[in-house]
Amino acid sequence: MSPIAVPVNPPTYSIACMPADGIGPEVISAGVEVLKTLANASGDFSLEFEDYDWSSETYKQTGRYIPEGGLESLKKHDAILFGAVGAPDVPDHISLWGLRLAICQPLQQYANVRPTKIFRGTQSPLRNANTGDLDWVIVRENSEGEYAGHGGRSHIGQAWETATEVSIFTRHAVERIIRFAFEVAQKRPRKQLTVVTKSNAQRNGMVLWDEVAAELSKEFPDVTMDKMLVDAMTCRMVLKPESLDTIVATNLHADILSDLAAALAGSIGIAPTSNLDPTRTNPSMFEPIHGSAFDITGQGIANPVATFWTAAEMLSWLGEEAAAQRLLTCVESVCERGVVTRDLGGTANTKEVTEAVCEEIRSSFKKPKQVS
Ligand code: NAI
Ligand code: MG
Repeated sequence: MSPIAVPVNPPTYSIACMPADGIGPEVISAGVEVLKTLANASGDFSLEFEDYDWSSETYKQTGRYIPEGGLESLKKHDAILFGAVGAPDVPDHISLWGLRLAICQPLQQYANVRPTKIFRGTQSPLRNANTGDLDWVIVRENSEGEYAGHGGRSHIGQAWETATEVSIFTRHAVERIIRFAFEVAQKRPRKQLTVVTKSNAQRNGMVLWDEVAAELSKEFPDVTMDKMLVDAMTCRMVLKPESLDTIVATNLHADILSDLAAALAGSIGIAPTSNLDPTRTNPSMFEPIHGSAFDITGQGIANPVATFWTAAEMLSWLGEEAAAQRLLTCVESVCERGVVTRDLGGTANTKEVTEAVCEEIRSSFKKPKQVS
């Protein structure tokens, strides 16, 4: 066997690292350790991390999550690795809009991609679902819809106080997300897309979604498309998980369905999220699906697997597909050996899982080297 070919000039990727709040710093430092181990062991690429301390702490000190000119400085990176935002003493709508949505929306990261599957060595709470039975990609519209930010409050404190939360659906954004979802479905072996709406009750925006999906399906004759109402979709996810593959839904619907998906796969501590700008004009942002988990912050027991899978998604987006696959395989092997945190029924802590994954990565490179 010939030795491993090491590129003469391996590419270097610049990563903005933003752990933010709660367990964010614990899982992101674990993710950075694993990524550095992988880059060093492979030699195929290198990573430069620049730390950003934007968080609820900086908000409490300065009144801002993102400093003046902050978004511009993010644009110089190839990707953003994000932890979670949310603190017990800051209202959630302030923290979420102050940081996460304040990055996703201006950087036009309009496609939120959430893969879910049952890892080898982990168990679904569904009695009959085993590895391979649940293997989904949920594509969430990430720029408008129910989280467009339209609405207001008036007559505050009066008995006639009024609040509106207006969902915005533009043909432009609906078309680009459904087309993106068709492309994701087309690349997967089953070539199957389920379009989720609520077009029986919501007769404007959701009907637009249905119409656009029907139009676009003609451009993708090799993809089988079906439609579900979101309430019925929750039943199908639980009762017939094997019948689903790629799923597309609005910002709110897919937010909820993807948490359900993560729980059905075993834990919210596993699932990753990519906030993609598919035009690649701006860097995309990668984060575990979970939040800042105040109840376990500082205990060293957070499951870092969601961040490892997130890191793999980031590598894949950067073009390092082989490294991404290797990382996921190593994580699954560690799960299969039973080195898992409490949320997956194990006893390992964050550090032990991280060390086990780093060791698995190093040993995965040893075999070919010994042969050479
Ligand atoms: P959460 O995801 O933080 O926690 C829900 C439950 O899952 C908790 O019991 C927690 O301990 C557990 N959990 C979450 N991640 C885990 C991990 N890696 N390992 C083991 N267990 C884990 O959701 P919650 O409680 O609704 O929100 C807490 C805060 O996080 C809020 O301020 C919320 O707004 C924020 N949040 C932020 C998100 C983001 O930054 N993208 C996403 C979701 C919530
Ligand atoms: Mg959510």
